[in-house]
Amino acid sequence: MQNQNDQSRMDRIVSLAKRRGFVFQSSEIYGGLNGFWDYGPLGVALKRNLKDAWWHDMVAGHDELATLTGAPSPYEMTGLDCTIIMHPQVWKCSGHFDLFHDWMIDCRESKRRYRYDHLHGRWAAHRGKKVFVTTDASGDEAAPATVARAQKFFGLRAKQVDEIEWGGGLESLQQAIAAGSATLADTLGPDATAPGSLTEPREFNLMFETRIGALAGDDEDRAFLRPETAQGIFVNFKNVLDTSRVRVPFGIAQVGKSFRNEITPRNFTFRSREFEQMEIEFFCKPADSAAWYRYWRDRRWKWYLDLGLTAGRLQLREHAADELSHYSVGTADIEYAFPFLAAGEFGELEGIAHRGDFDLRSHMEGKLVRQDGGLVVETGPDGKPRHKGSGKDLSYFDDITRERFVPHVIEPSAGADRATLAFLCDAYHEDEVPDEDGKPRSRTVLKLHPRLAPVKAAILPLVKKDGMPEVAIDLYRALKPHMACQYDEKGSVGRRYARQDEAGTPWCLTVDGQSLADRTVTLRDRDSLVQQRVAIDEVVDLLRDKLS
Ligand code: GAP
Repeated sequence: MQNQNDQSRMDRIVSLAKRRGFVFQSSEIYGGLNGFWDYGPLGVALKRNLKDAWWHDMVAGHDELATLTGAPSPYEMTGLDCTIIMHPQVWKCSGHFDLFHDWMIDCRESKRRYRYDHLHGRWAAHRGKKVFVTTDASGDEAAPATVARAQKFFGLRAKQVDEIEWGGGLESLQQAIAAGSATLADTLGPDATAPGSLTEPREFNLMFETRIGALAGDDEDRAFLRPETAQGIFVNFKNVLDTSRVRVPFGIAQVGKSFRNEITPRNFTFRSREFEQMEIEFFCKPADSAAWYRYWRDRRWKWYLDLGLTAGRLQLREHAADELSHYSVGTADIEYAFPFLAAGEFGELEGIAHRGDFDLRSHMEGKLVRQDGGLVVETGPDGKPRHKGSGKDLSYFDDITRERFVPHVIEPSAGADRATLAFLCDAYHEDEVPDEDGKPRSRTVLKLHPRLAPVKAAILPLVKKDGMPEVAIDLYRALKPHMACQYDEKGSVGRRYARQDEAGTPWCLTVDGQSLADRTVTLRDRDSLVQQRVAIDEVVDLLRDKLS
């Protein structure tokens, strides 16, 4: 078994992603832009296949007449595509304007900025000098980073490192300050040479701001790039109800870009400033909402497994009561053990949240806050709502039971980039295969699920003569209308297999001398390496069957 959690493995995945055109740094020729990534020819196909699989499995292919396993009843699914810039009041009522922030901390010496909750540190002492050494490194790199920082601070040579006395293990700086076991005055910042250079933590709203219109200037023109796609769905709830025949329970899905001005984007595409989300807002009767929450949690968990993520690297984590958002009745995260994390650590792929009636009520009544166990409109010093809602009636009338209610919402909210990264990491394998002479050759292979693979099949004439290219081109043209495939005649067949393995292509079809005699080709399976002869005329149906 390969060691899955290690930074060098992650480095090799990043290198493959760049070398084979999966992911590039945005604006790379100008030095790149931190937190922004572009998808290259293979990457765009992988991410599109992932989003298409999600849309198909959750929306377009959903059987609204059946009661699916675990679902309390049949339900309908529909979709939306909303704008990225919305009325600023949307974000005031949703709570993002007041509450969507992280705590940041600046270093007066290095001029660098850190997310407060990302700093970890520990006490180090040497010959009567004591300092709380911090680092912004994560995972397995954090502890060695503090050793290196302390060694430099005390001016020690490598062989003197053992002379450092450590006061306990690594802990969060935020928690150490809150507990009074460290002070900012004693703290050596991650890039500072002397303690005391870190500023008091400050709030930093993560929404990107922009201005609307040519004469933009005053506060009225201030607008925000959406930090989630969800709000577009809530504010269109009434439009969807009034224009389609959906009945509760039903879900509205949306896939699209979101923007967050993350203080410290990191770990390749994992935490980016521009990313895509795949979100569902599922509207149901309050009494049924707990059952729907469980259904969606389990359904989304199974989706990742069905597409091939290794079960042992996935975790379903129910939030503890004190972790829940102020409006949430229950939330679970689907998490993946990314290779850049320390052993035992997981990163979030998707959150499934029971949001009650918080969102629809917020957009009706105004920004809500929790009070005495319930939700009330937050008021300002003048007693008026702090952020006024739309005043529109977003309740639902059930014409069969004659009940009117504000539906409760279950929200499965997934990140398309994070899922793409998880599938890429999970698919990455290094193994040995026999070359054309039967000698072992090391190979890098992406064992992607065929639905996700950017290219489904490669058609390779064994040599560029004797009529083989003509047969191969005919086969390519027969297959192309049905699936993404490539024709490749350049280089030895071994090198061509290796190229396709790195791209994650599940099947290679090789046209050889025998093909001309009996109209068969060899079908090579990327994972098992089994090669079988199949009739050319059956290839299209065979691969279509395998794909479905
Ligand atoms: N509407 C709920 C919502 O947005 P979230 O947990 O903040 O919830 C949902 O985001 C998903 O979006 C996350 O599970 C993650 O996959 C993705 N995501 C969030 N922030 C991200 C970032 N900075 N970079 C990449 N993906 C991100």
